Amino acid sequence: MAFTPEFLDELRGRVPLAGAIGRRVQLKKRGREFVGLCPFHNEKTPSFTVNEEKGFFHCFGCGAHGDVIGFVMRVDNLSFPEVVERLAGQAGLEIPVSTPEERGQAEQRKSLYAVTEAACSWFEHRLRQPAGREGFDYLKGRGLDDTVIARFRLGFAPDARAALKAALARQDFAEEQMIAAGLVIRPEDGRESYDRFRGRVIFPIADRRGRVIAFGGRLLGDGQPKYLNSPDTPLFSKGRVLYGLAQALEAARESGEIIVTEGYMDVIALHRAGFKNAVAPLGTAITEMQIEMLWRVVPEPVLCFDGDQAGRRAATRAAERVLPLLKPGHSLRFYLLPEGEDPGSRIEGHTRAGMHDVVYLKTESRPLSEMLWEMETQGRPIDTPERRAALERRLEDLVLRIADRRVQAHYRSHFRSKLWRLLRGSGQAKPRPPRRDVGLRSDVDVGSLPLRVEQGFLAAIINHPALLKHVGEELAGLQLAEGELDKLRAEIIKTSGSDLDSATLRSHLRERGCSDVLDRLLTQDVYEAAPFSRPDKAVEEVLREWNSVWTRYWRRQDRAELEEDTKALGEDMTPERWARISAKKHEMQMAESLDADQDDLESERMSGD
Ligand code: UTP
Ligand code: MN
Repeated sequence: MAFTPEFLDELRGRVPLAGAIGRRVQLKKRGREFVGLCPFHNEKTPSFTVNEEKGFFHCFGCGAHGDVIGFVMRVDNLSFPEVVERLAGQAGLEIPVSTPEERGQAEQRKSLYAVTEAACSWFEHRLRQPAGREGFDYLKGRGLDDTVIARFRLGFAPDARAALKAALARQDFAEEQMIAAGLVIRPEDGRESYDRFRGRVIFPIADRRGRVIAFGGRLLGDGQPKYLNSPDTPLFSKGRVLYGLAQALEAARESGEIIVTEGYMDVIALHRAGFKNAVAPLGTAITEMQIEMLWRVVPEPVLCFDGDQAGRRAATRAAERVLPLLKPGHSLRFYLLPEGEDPGSRIEGHTRAGMHDVVYLKTESRPLSEMLWEMETQGRPIDTPERRAALERRLEDLVLRIADRRVQAHYRSHFRSKLWRLLRGSGQAKPRPPRRDVGLRSDVDVGSLPLRVEQGFLAAIINHPALLKHVGEELAGLQLAEGELDKLRAEIIKTSGSDLDSATLRSHLRERGCSDVLDRLLTQDVYEAAPFSRPDKAVEEVLREWNSVWTRYWRRQDRAELEEDTKALGEDMTPERWARISAKKHEMQMAESLDADQDDLESERMSGD
């Protein structure tokens, strides 16, 4: 259902944020804000802040961020429309009415839940009866115990033509409902309808609230198809569901991790081995929708793949698919099992302790950026200029698929620096020291003089080439609007391999045909507008100021983007665009209030001195 921005604004205005959050989190007033222990990650000292005035919460520990709707979505694990409905109810707000058609569909779904639930308990009961013996033995034979069987509500569909249909009919369900729920099939040729699942163990598929919406059935022996699944129904669409999510939520929230495996048995085997935070898509590659669902639980789900060809291909596809969706803080990690293993095989017969060294995901899984790099470089020689160029282009193609500008910039610089290292053959990069986040105040007017700031960045490097060690990656990821400047930037990066002093670097750049732009750059005008770039400053000071200017420079780019988006909204209003804009606004407000805090701190410190 689409809600209008006006309605959502009204709703946010009517529901006090601190009140809604205060019901779940103990909040203390601190200055203009409230603080408490973050409900989204484990912490001992409060880093979760609520800003009532601005209408959002933010956790400085885990980065969780959002407004009142986002908060309820996360803690109660509800969808956007569900939360809107609930909050509107509490606030006594009328939701702009839905069409009769929409109401009809909602009614139908309600009755289908009843059918699938009834079928699920019927299958469960069969498993415990003599008729279900072979199914029960099969599951036991695969190492499952009663607890797991009960937890996943596993069942058995006897090998009879219409046993389920008869049982559901006795409970007054109409044949049409059974068909609509995908449980019963009516043949085209007019013969009697019959049960879809026969002679199979049953894996009920639930939505994230635990309501059964579909089923998968496995043959007890070999044969085809090994698994039969419910067709898409009004309740079920396989790209929008993750098997095991309802059971995994609590453990996932607690550990901050969620493991995505390939199938029903993997989820259950992991669960049995103590990894209760496992889910799986339903026999298809992971979809965008599923990635978004995972991100609502944890920021970096771990995708676990079999160690064979197919597993690698699936990993590649997932890596490519997520690129357009990436946003700051949200990504995927990858874990490829050793060749020939799947989590199921790995666990069957293993103890939990044995599993630990297999799936030690946090340390052994790799970030997306590593996965992509490996995809493009492994087994591909780069021994000729053409091959190097091809690699560079493939990496850039990947980068261009990232929609978020900030993430894109970081990927570009990441790949470029990896590429230099590879080409220089210098092997492993030295880990960079963590960047100190220093005071954000500075003497540069970033807002009105973006060109001067860009010139300042380059002048600073030319005057202090030692900076490159610290900011080389950032510089590599930058794209300057003015062509000449951008060319100079590229030249600087190219010549920066060795430890040059400023004079040598300058003469180098002059040899490369950059004299004109250098003469325009190393001037009093630039130094006045961007004092951090002056040649007479100490390099530590330049670095500190660089960091601060850099942050504000990006913030300005964000603002420009927001303005563009807002303009576009005027022309074409969609809920998605609106949501994006409001998220961005909140993010920026947060960043700005951070700046203000930082300023306060700094002036306090200065007056205390
Ligand atoms: P797998 O073949 O890896 O199955 O398929 P599995 O879950 O490990 O089960 P076991 O151990 O062989 O019993 C992975 C997933 O692909 C889907 C199912 O969702 C399965 O869990 N699948 C597979 C089907 O839908 N149909 C099939 O015929 C096979
Ligand atoms: Mn498998």
